[in-house]
Amino acid sequence: MIPKKATVLVFSPTGTSKKSAVAVARGLGCPVELLDLTVPGAAAPRAFGPDEVVVLGTPCYSGRVPQLAMSRLAGFTGDHTPCIVTVTFGNRHFDDALAELCDFCQNSGFVPVAGAAMVAQHTFGQIAVGRPTAEDEADDTAFGQKVAQALETGIVDRTGAIPGNRPYKDGGSGGKFRPSTLDTCVSCGLCRKNCPAGAIGDDNRTIDNEKCLSCFRCIALCPKKAKAMRDPGYDAFCVKFNEMLAQRQENRYFL
Ligand SMILES: Cc1cc2nc3c(=O)[nH]c(=O)nc-3n(C[C@H](O)[C@H](O)[C@H](O)COP(=O)(O)O)c2cc1C
Ligand code: SF4
Ligand code: SF4
Repeated sequence: MIPKKATVLVFSPTGTSKKSAVAVARGLGCPVELLDLTVPGAAAPRAFGPDEVVVLGTPCYSGRVPQLAMSRLAGFTGDHTPCIVTVTFGNRHFDDALAELCDFCQNSGFVPVAGAAMVAQHTFGQIAVGRPTAEDEADDTAFGQKVAQALETGIVDRTGAIPGNRPYKDGGSGGKFRPSTLDTCVSCGLCRKNCPAGAIGDDNRTIDNEKCLSCFRCIALCPKKAKAMRDPGYDAFCVKFNEMLAQRQENRYFL
């Protein structure tokens, strides 16, 4: 088949999963629409046809897809629609995250035709800084082109070629670090409106510790740098973590 359209469905608090999934879709050679599911209520679920292709993109959190991302995907359905499953990971590993997306596909009418696990800057510390680079994105797009060529000869379920364990490891619920709000906050509301978990109170300052994912989106977005990580344990954690994950990892593509 030659797809008439590609839709990229992403959950991407700090934007790297979006960048990488879109780079893959660019290689498919058809018009691309982006549906960003990061913020609650951003896009209503929809049904896709057999002449379309869908690219899923989420980060890997503790070896799994964030549970919040899985809940955002609920209700999207395919009709034998080919789907490329993609995750980003912060230079450690993606463990069972791609397997989880493959299973979502099979349970929702999509056919997982290919997978990619792409390295991205880690949310915590200074790991894989600047990735995906332009070079990474070019590799992602070249992979998208290969998937398009494979689709011309038919839609084949590649779940068997995509790594991951079942049952999955525990993970996906988020991290333990919680941002603070500094006095430079001007209460513009940007962080509250963009928090994936709805964890920031109406005062734009209070964080609901139970809801917060440690995704650092608020820290990345605040124009006043007023959302910041001030947890005393964080800096010490980062020193060790940076060391542990210093060795460069490569993107992995499965077709
Ligand atoms: C709570 C949490 C858990 C994470 N777990 C992993 C992991 O298991 N393996 C890994 O390599 N990176 C891990 N990361 C790093 C993210 O996968 C990586 O930074 C990703 O690119 C973020 O995607 P985004 O920019 O789309 O939000 C984790 C990040 C967070 C916030
Ligand atoms: S984005 Fe920054 S300045 Fe705006 S409300 Fe949030 S913390 Fe305050
Ligand atoms: S409050 Fe927590 S969940 Fe919300 S954007 Fe900030 S780090 Fe992410």
